[in-house]
Amino acid sequence: MQDVEPIVARALAEFAAAPDPASLENAKARFLGKSGELTALLKTLGKLAPEARRSAGAAINAAKERLEQALERRRAELASARLEARLAEEALDVTLPGRGRGRGGVHPISRTWARIERIFGSIGFDVADGPELETDWYNFTALNNPENHPARSMQDTFYVDLKDPGGLPLVLRTHTSPMQVRYARMHRPPLKVIAPGRTYRVDSDATHSPMFHQVEGLWIDEDVSFADLKGVFADFMRRFFESDDIEVRFRPSYFPFTEPSAEIDMKFDSGPLKGRWLEISGAGQVHPAVVRNFGLDPERYIGFAFGAGLERLTMLRYGIDDLRLFFDGDLRFLRQFA
Ligand code: PHE
Repeated sequence: MQDVEPIVARALAEFAAAPDPASLENAKARFLGKSGELTALLKTLGKLAPEARRSAGAAINAAKERLEQALERRRAELASARLEARLAEEALDVTLPGRGRGRGGVHPISRTWARIERIFGSIGFDVADGPELETDWYNFTALNNPENHPARSMQDTFYVDLKDPGGLPLVLRTHTSPMQVRYARMHRPPLKVIAPGRTYRVDSDATHSPMFHQVEGLWIDEDVSFADLKGVFADFMRRFFESDDIEVRFRPSYFPFTEPSAEIDMKFDSGPLKGRWLEISGAGQVHPAVVRNFGLDPERYIGFAFGAGLERLTMLRYGIDDLRLFFDGDLRFLRQFA
């Protein structure tokens, strides 16, 4: 019979040289597999005389055992080498500064929105919310807008390719005033509500954005006067700007849905805007035709409404001079409010 020692020597050399688990298993098959060299040798035992067969069999089995052990060792070596390599590859450099995690913050307009709800909530105003996609009736007609009023023209209003049940195109609401009518038709007087929300106009420059925010205010009862409007609004401004050094001025104006109508201006008596009058809100006593559209008798019910711009209030509160900053998503700007 062929000598086993040279076979063992070659097998050990091949195992030791196998660079990875797959080559090692291939080498194993060449010696210990079904048609491996050692297995082939085992098959020749039958031809030997009993005496020789016993000693040859013992030698082959001993060789097999040595190879199995060598195989096991090499397998373990390769596995740990692979682990080492992976650990080296994934090594953490603990001296690098941490990446941190952005903490996020509340958008300045949202802060203003929440402040306004808090201030008006504290003097008994309800908060209402309504659709941004509005019918012509609520956005214009119910608010006493004449058919040919320029606010209905294509340049100011975003019309949508959808029609209301009366066949008129829906609009993106151009102000929060339709909420006066929606709220009034669903509640009984006294009506005391604010309605903050998004509004839309075809307009875009440093002080106008096609999407902006307003807050509508409405107070209707049997005896709510223009003096109440002045008191409520002046108090709101002082609390919003956290200053008693604010003067409020009512300038005559025109809105179809109020009579008389006013623009409310404010003057800062201190701070960076000291001495300047700035327009803050439209307002007025709700027009009798609108009170009728509330479903109420204008001989009995009277009160005021106002509509203020949230961007304007926020810009004045924080000293921001370009309204587009609110919507650019630039974190260098937004982080200052976090
Ligand atoms: N809706 C008016 C506007 O957008 C503001 C306003 C509201 C005026 C309520 C009077 C009363 O300009």
